[in-house]
Amino acid sequence: MIKLIKAPKSGLHGEITVPGDKSISHRALMFGAIANGETRIDNFLMSDDVLRTMTVFRELGVNMSQVGSQIKVIGKGLDKFTKPDHSLNMGNSGTSTRLLMGLLSKQPFDLPFFGDESLSKRPLRRVAGPLALMNAKFDLAADNFLPGTILANNNLQGITYDMPVASAQVKSAILLAGIQAEGETIVIEKRPSRDHTERMLRQFGGDITTNNGIITVHQQRQLRGQHVLVPSDISSAAFFMVAGLITPNSELTLKKVGVNPTRVGVIKLLERMGANIKQEPMPSNGEALADIVVKSQSLRGINITADDIPSAVDELPILALAATQALGDTVISGAAELRVKETDRIATVITELTKLGANIEERQDGMVIHGGTTLRALQGSVMLDSHGDHRIGMMNAIAALIAEGNVILTGEDAMSVSYPGFLADLASTMREKL
Ligand code: S3P
Repeated sequence: MIKLIKAPKSGLHGEITVPGDKSISHRALMFGAIANGETRIDNFLMSDDVLRTMTVFRELGVNMSQVGSQIKVIGKGLDKFTKPDHSLNMGNSGTSTRLLMGLLSKQPFDLPFFGDESLSKRPLRRVAGPLALMNAKFDLAADNFLPGTILANNNLQGITYDMPVASAQVKSAILLAGIQAEGETIVIEKRPSRDHTERMLRQFGGDITTNNGIITVHQQRQLRGQHVLVPSDISSAAFFMVAGLITPNSELTLKKVGVNPTRVGVIKLLERMGANIKQEPMPSNGEALADIVVKSQSLRGINITADDIPSAVDELPILALAATQALGDTVISGAAELRVKETDRIATVITELTKLGANIEERQDGMVIHGGTTLRALQGSVMLDSHGDHRIGMMNAIAALIAEGNVILTGEDAMSVSYPGFLADLASTMREKL
C-alpha cells in the first residue's frame, strides 16, 4: 500500500525507456525454444508474466540463460521436449496459457497446467475449441477453465478457422499448432489483431503467407535460431503518453517504442481526441521503432467502436482515464473483450475512477465517459485498488497524480506482471524543473 505524491506544478518531464514488449518477449522465448540453434533476445522483458513462459520451457528441458536484459535460448526443435515432473504454473499469464495450448498440443505426454485465481476465471474454450478441430485434446475444468491438462497427442490436422472474436492469443495458438499439423491451416481475421506471431515465424525462417486478413501456414520442418531485439512496449508507454497529456506543463519522451501498425491504436485514438503526438521513427531490422513525444494539451471526447478495439485493447483503461479529462463524452462500444481480461476491465475501470468522482455509465460492451471532471478523492481521502490487474494498478497511479486530496494505492504489486519499476520510472518524471 502506498500514498502517491501529486504531480508537481511544473509538470512531468524527461525521457523514459519503458521495458521490453510483453507480447514479443513471450513469442521470442517460444520460437527460440522450438527453433534449432541459438536465439539471442535483447531488451527482453523480465516481468512476472514472461517469466512464466520461461519457467515452462526450462521445465520442458530447454536451456535458457540470462545476462542482464539479454536471454540466450538453445533451441530443441518441436519434438525433443522432456516431460516435466510437475504441473505447469501459468500464474496470471493469459498469453502463456493460450499460446502454449497451441504450441504444446502435439507432445507425447500429458501436461497438467494451472493458474492463479484471476487466470482460472478466464475462458479457454475459445482456444481449445478450434484446437480440438485440429485433433488437439484437452481436459479443462468445466470444459473452459484452468486447472486442466494438455493431453498427449501425436497428430494434428490443418483447419480453416474464421475468427469469431479478434484475438491475437487465439490466432497465435492456432498458428503454433498449424506449423505442426498435416495440411494447410488458414486463419481468417475480420479485424486485424497484433501480428507478432506471424512476423516472428517469418523471421525464424518459417513459411507463412498473409493476405488481407487470411493467414496461411503449413507444417514447418525446421526453424532457425535468430537475434531478436524487443522494442519498448507501447502498452506500457501508453501510461506515460496519457500522463504527459493530462498533467499540466508536462513534456515526456518515450524512447524506442514498438510502433507495429497492429499496436498503434492508442496513438490514433489520442490523436482523434486532439492530441499532437510526435513520432520520430528510427531504423530497425525487426519491428518498427520510434521515439514518441507528448506535451500536455486539452482533449475532446470521441466515439471508440469495434473497429478500433483490437489495436488498442490493452490501452482502454488508460484511455478511459484520458476521457475523464476530455471535453464532452467518449463512447466506447464493441469492447466486450474487456470483460475477460485479467479483471472485468469495464467494471474495474468504472469502480476505481468513480471513487475519484468520474462520471461513467456502464454498457454491456463498453462505457460512456462524461468528460471534463476534476478528479478528487471524495471525502478527502480514497483508496484505489488494482484488483490484482497490472493495467488497472497503473491507471490508478496516473489518476492519483492529477487527483485532488489523498489517494492511496493498494494491490500495486500487480504492476510487475508487465512493468516492474513502473512507479520508479513515474517518480523519475517528477523532479521539479530546474
Ligand atoms: C496478447 C493479446 C491480447 C492482449 C494480451 C496480449 C498477445 O489478448 O490483451 O495482453 O500477446 O497475443 P487477446 O488477443 O485475447 O485480445
